[in-house]
Amino acid sequence: MVGVSLEGEKVILVPYMKEHVPKYHQWMQDPFLLETTASEPLTLEQEYQMHLSWCQDPLKKTFIVLDKDLVEGTFVHGDPHVEAMVGDVNIYMNDLDNLELAEVEIMIAEPKSRGKGLAKDAVLMMMAYAVENFGIHVFRAKIGESNGASLRLFQKLGFEDISYSEIFKEVTLELPVENAKREELLVLTANVVRHP
Ligand SMILES: CC(C)(COP(=O)(O)OP(=O)(O)OC[C@H]1O[C@@H](n2cnc3c(N)ncnc32)[C@H](O)[C@@H]1OP(=O)(O)O)[C@@H](O)C(=O)NCCC(=O)NCCS
Repeated sequence: MVGVSLEGEKVILVPYMKEHVPKYHQWMQDPFLLETTASEPLTLEQEYQMHLSWCQDPLKKTFIVLDKDLVEGTFVHGDPHVEAMVGDVNIYMNDLDNLELAEVEIMIAEPKSRGKGLAKDAVLMMMAYAVENFGIHVFRAKIGESNGASLRLFQKLGFEDISYSEIFKEVTLELPVENAKREELLVLTANVVRHP
């Protein structure tokens, strides 16, 4: 069964399907992407296993980000549209004492699709989806101190620094989503179309 797809102005968020795995695996050979996402290189077989575990874990939600400019023909829900996949966005409810808190991660892996506002749109859409469907009240992001692009992205979305780890050289930022902020998020994503 295919999950929902969310169509925004610039991106379409589609469920992570097995057809996406080879390209995802290819991206994750890049030392820059491994470092900025704090990931370890995996074999293709391990990446398929990781895909399964992400899809089955009720505490995680992952979407593949499609760049609408790259979709060939019309978008078809359920079609992986590998030609247009440029990154991923995910949330992880990894604080078992607070399941209303989700860590959010974004990657726009294809350089040609960066700087077009895709990450901003994808994170906003993911947050609105998480507020509505998972009852999330606080979003958290952990970013390497040298990752200026990502730090600015989250700061621009209203996240504030709450702590710094000297050991991991990493900043933790949070965005509480209560009342006014929740309304603002829902207004910003009001035109998002849900498929089906
Ligand atoms: C960080 C990243 C997600 C940004 O994606 P993007 O689609 O290019 O970002 P957007 O075009 O949506 O930019 C949104 C805002 O982010 C900031 N930003 C993005 N790229 C930037 C850069 N290279 N330098 C400075 N600020 C940048 C800006 O504030 C920008 O807003 P503005 O254009 O109005 O000034 C992308 O570069 C990436 O995937 N990097 C590698 C993986 C990574 O670092 N992931 C984050 C770990 S959670």
